[in-house]
Amino acid sequence: MLYSDKHLELGVIIMKKVIVLSALIVTFSLLFFTHTEAINNSLVIKTLPNGGNLYAEDQTSVLEKLPANSILFILEEQSFWSKVQVNESIGFVKNAAMSSALSSLMKISSSSHPIIRQTNDKNAKHLATTHNGAYVRVYLQTQNGFSLIQTDQAIGYVYSSTLVKPVSINMTVAHKNGAAIRNVPDMNYSIQNTLSNNSAVTAYPAVDGWFYVESKGIYGYALANKLKKDTKQNTNSGVKRIALTFDDGPHPTVTRQILKTLAKYDAKATFFVTGRRVELSPTVLKEIYAAGHEIGNHTFNHPKLTNISLKSAKEQITSTNALISKTIGQEATVFRPPYGAYNKNIQALTDLPFVLWTVDTLDWQHHDPNKTLQAVKKQTKNGSIILMHDIHQSTANGLDSVLHYLSNEGYEFVTVSELQAK
Ligand code: NI
Repeated sequence: MLYSDKHLELGVIIMKKVIVLSALIVTFSLLFFTHTEAINNSLVIKTLPNGGNLYAEDQTSVLEKLPANSILFILEEQSFWSKVQVNESIGFVKNAAMSSALSSLMKISSSSHPIIRQTNDKNAKHLATTHNGAYVRVYLQTQNGFSLIQTDQAIGYVYSSTLVKPVSINMTVAHKNGAAIRNVPDMNYSIQNTLSNNSAVTAYPAVDGWFYVESKGIYGYALANKLKKDTKQNTNSGVKRIALTFDDGPHPTVTRQILKTLAKYDAKATFFVTGRRVELSPTVLKEIYAAGHEIGNHTFNHPKLTNISLKSAKEQITSTNALISKTIGQEATVFRPPYGAYNKNIQALTDLPFVLWTVDTLDWQHHDPNKTLQAVKKQTKNGSIILMHDIHQSTANGLDSVLHYLSNEGYEFVTVSELQAK
C-alpha cells in the first residue's frame, strides 16, 4: 500500500513535470513561430521609383534587378540598408533608392470578413481578415483582381471587388491642442501624430465618435469632438450649385450609362434607391457609391407611405437601410418618400433628413430627352434639386445635353447633403 502510494505520488510529480515541460515547449515554439510570422508580416511598404538592385546579405552581390516602382515590404530597417521582401525574394536594398509608397484610402464593403492573403493568388497563405466598413490604405491593384492593402494588422492582398471609395467631408481641427491621430479608433492605442489646430482635413465617418482623417500626408483616426465641419469649403459663395437626383434605381444598364455621363462632367449626384432594386443589382449600387455619389433611401418597393400603416412604413425604411448598409458598408444619408407623400408621423420614423425636389422634369411621364432639357432650362436656379429617374433609357440618353447646358450656365453639381450643408 505504502509502496504503491509513493509510486503514485511520484507518478503525479512526473506527470506535472511533463505538463510544465510541454507547456514550455509549446510556448517556445509559439514564440519562434510568431517571430518567423512577423518577418513575413511587414507593416511598412516602400517603392523603388527608379528601379535598382536587390542585394544578397553581403550587400555586394546582386540577386535580382528590380524594375521601377517595385513594391518593397520592409522587414528590417538599418541605417543605410533595409532588409526587404519583393514578391517571393528577400534581400537588401539601399535606403537612398527607396521612397515611401503612395496609397489611397478605400473602405471594405463586404458582408463576410474578407481574407488578407500573402500574395495575389486565391490559394496564397491567409495573413489576417478584415471587416465590413474598415478603412484600408490601398497601394496597387493587380491585373487579376486583387488589391494590395494595409490594415493595422497586416499588409497583403484582398479581392478588389470588396473595396469601395468612401465619401469624404471637409473638416477643420477645432481644438487648441490639436487632434491626436491614431492607427486604431481607440483611446487605448498610442498616438502616431498630432494635427495642429485649424488644420484642414479630409474626413471620413468611422465608428461612433471617430473620423478617419487625411491631411498633408498624415492619416489615421481622430476623435470627432476635436473636429468641426468646414463650412467655408462646403459653401463656395458666388458659385451656382445644384443637386441632380435620380430615383427608383439602381438599374443595371440605365444607371451605368448615367454614371458614365456624370463622370464625363465630373458631376456628383444623389441616387434615391429602392430596396427591391438594390436586392436585384447590388453591384450597381456599389458602383454608384464607389464613384462618390450620395445614396438615399427611397423605401423598399415604392408605396405611397401615407396609404399604409406606420408599422409597414417603418419596415419599408429600415429594411432598405439594412440592405444599403449591407451592400456598401454605409447607411443611406438622406430619405425621399415616394410621390413626395409624407406627414409628421412618417417623418418621426427615421432620423434621416427628408429631401424632396424643386425641379420636376417629369421624365417618367414623357420619356422625351428634349422635354427633360426644356424643364431644366425653365426651372433651374442656384440651389435647385432636380428630379430624374435612373430606370428610363430616355433619361440616360438625355442627360448629356442637360449637363452640357447646365455646366455652360456655370452650375456645379453636388450631392443634396453638400447643397444643404450650412
Ligand atoms: Ni420614386
